[in-house]
Amino acid sequence: MASKRMASGPAITILVVTAMAVVLHRTTVRAAASVPAVAAPPATKLPRPPALFVFGDSIVDPGNNNAITTLVRCNFPPYGQDFPGHNATGRFSNGKVPSDILASRLGIKEYVPAYLGTELSHFDLLTGVSFASGGCGFDPLTAELVLCVLTTTPYVRGFQLTSSIHQSVLTMDNQLDLFKEYKGKLERIAGAPRAADIVSTSLYMVVTGTDDLANTYFTTPFRRDYDLQSYIEFVVQCAVDFIQKLYGQGARRINIAGAPPIGCVPSQRTNAGGLERDCVALYNQAAVVFNAALEKEIKRLNGSEALPGSVLKYIDLYTPLLDMIQRPDAYGFDVTNRGCCGTGVFEVTLMCNRYTAHACRDPSKFLFWDTYHLTERGYNLLMAQIINRYGL
Ligand SMILES: *[C@@H]1O[C@H](CO)[C@@H](O)[C@H](O)[C@H]1NC(C)=O
Ligand SMILES: *[C@@H]1O[C@H](CO)[C@@H](O)[C@H](O)[C@H]1NC(C)=O
Repeated sequence: MASKRMASGPAITILVVTAMAVVLHRTTVRAAASVPAVAAPPATKLPRPPALFVFGDSIVDPGNNNAITTLVRCNFPPYGQDFPGHNATGRFSNGKVPSDILASRLGIKEYVPAYLGTELSHFDLLTGVSFASGGCGFDPLTAELVLCVLTTTPYVRGFQLTSSIHQSVLTMDNQLDLFKEYKGKLERIAGAPRAADIVSTSLYMVVTGTDDLANTYFTTPFRRDYDLQSYIEFVVQCAVDFIQKLYGQGARRINIAGAPPIGCVPSQRTNAGGLERDCVALYNQAAVVFNAALEKEIKRLNGSEALPGSVLKYIDLYTPLLDMIQRPDAYGFDVTNRGCCGTGVFEVTLMCNRYTAHACRDPSKFLFWDTYHLTERGYNLLMAQIINRYGL
């Protein structure tokens, strides 16, 4: 299954747009002098979760896409250049991704491994894995459309796909199916009672939804039978369905990230921001509307009669990330409107490789690693703000 074939035709680009992530890393905040101080974490203290389970897209995919037939992958340099051993594990950054940072802050472990494609130790299985798959969304169509984005994105028009790979990435339902399979493995190594305890007391992190808006709605024509408002309602309903199904599988503590300021992400500035590559106001507005609707639903479901015992948190990524984009100096960044890889205006996944693009000299001066994903330092600072606000 694992297609190791890397598109040798570097002329292929994928616009992988994704959602941004959840919780933060205070201790590794570097040059953090200037990070704005935030109120102390909320007092409510839940016991430390035994494991972290992760669902979503490329923000938290540690390499699941390496093991499926898709072009949405990045298991080659310069990705991973600042990871231990310069290992390009398939994480969409130069180093750690938000799920790693959160697990580390929780004192669980330093890295959350991909469920697919690697041999997992008992320790890995007992302390949590990631099912996330770059390019997916709450809308099941998004996982299938990720390749269509290739041909509708202005700067890749005219390039020929040199591969016949046309398979979808993992949908959120596919990820849930893998979780069911995982639970069987967990029972076999830990026994049924302990496995049930791990499932019900662990933390679940869900980060997706951005590709639904940025790719599926704004870039491809396939959801144009919806107007923006009704598409947003549809995606929020998909998110609610997912949360209910995850609860049905035993999850109780679930953190769900909202959308980032999609319009200010480098790829969207390039696509729709005009010659000046301005932030795209409409896209940011869509993210704001989506986030408000998602937060409302999460509050309604939290601890409700429909989901007794649930502890659901909406995590606002929009506010801290927009602040980082707008006030680079406050965070010690030189550049926040383009990525570190290559020119920084169009390189993402396949176009960010060692043959076509060099990484910038000092990634810690950049908020974005490629045109969609943050640098490790960017993720650390984002997660630090989130943990400050929401606690662990
Ligand atoms: C690189 O990462 C992969 C996937 O996480 C892992 O299987 C492999 O052992 C790592 N290699 C090194 C040298 O760390
Ligand atoms: C969720 O419900 C719990 C009580 O069950 C409450 O302590 C918490 O503040 C609620 N969280 C949100 C985000 O509303």
